[in-house]
Amino acid sequence: MATHSGLALFVIALACCASLVPAVDYFRLVLLWPGGFCATNAQGQCCKPQTGYPRVDFLVNRLIPYTGSSPSSSCSNVPFNINEVQSNLTDLYNYWPSIRCPSNNGRRLWESVWQQDGRCSGLSIREFFLRALAIRSKANVIDVLDWKGILPSNYTTYALSEVERAINEVFGVTAYIDCGSTTGNRVQGLHLCVDSAVSNVIACPTRPVSNCASRVYFDPFMPDLLQERYSYTSFLDSE
Ligand SMILES: *[C@@H]1O[C@H](CO)[C@@H](O)[C@H](O)[C@H]1NC(C)=O
Ligand SMILES: *[C@@H]1O[C@H](CO)[C@@H](O)[C@H](O)[C@H]1NC(C)=O
Repeated sequence: MATHSGLALFVIALACCASLVPAVDYFRLVLLWPGGFCATNAQGQCCKPQTGYPRVDFLVNRLIPYTGSSPSSSCSNVPFNINEVQSNLTDLYNYWPSIRCPSNNGRRLWESVWQQDGRCSGLSIREFFLRALAIRSKANVIDVLDWKGILPSNYTTYALSEVERAINEVFGVTAYIDCGSTTGNRVQGLHLCVDSAVSNVIACPTRPVSNCASRVYFDPFMPDLLQERYSYTSFLDSE
């Protein structure tokens, strides 16, 4: 009896909600390299976050769900709620900060990423942010590059192909290296595709041609040099 009603509920659940569950085929993990990002942007375009201290590492920027070759358009209306990630706020401050000016506490960035990407991922707020943090840490791009001799430097340039090869040798896939704009020559970040469970790096089904020049700088990032710039509106944003 219990088994039967359980089964019936299960069947009803499948029938009712199958069409509401977004079919996400894979995700595009967009990582930011703050060294190149801050070196490229005009003075004053990188600010020290109000809370926390960004790590010298590739930072999460977005985790975009894809269905086929386009970003998933099957999105819930669930609003962002910071309480869902309360126990991992320190990880967010460290690895998913907003270093844009005016100085802010990251919350608007997370809210906008939830609006754009998270809501369309089929994941809960907590799962979406924690899985993004976990795959960032697992991919460990900074150590992969270091291991292949690609170290942040003010003076050295690297062949773009050398950077791509370093990633390829470890992950077996080619990353999209982002230099911000066409023929930019400072690495500002990179994209990796990850499977629908956000647990492994996979080859991207489609990969745009890199916007980087053939030789690129991998600028050092010095969080201590981030400017302190606060604004009235960002104070209103903090808690
Ligand atoms: C989230 O926080 C929990 C508890 O502190 C910790 O065990 C876990 O590793 C954190 N997750 C991520 C992805 O950082
Ligand atoms: C790189 O250049 C910046 C800006 O001129 C300077 O502050 C920093 O100390 C330099 N870093 C290294 C590792 O030489």
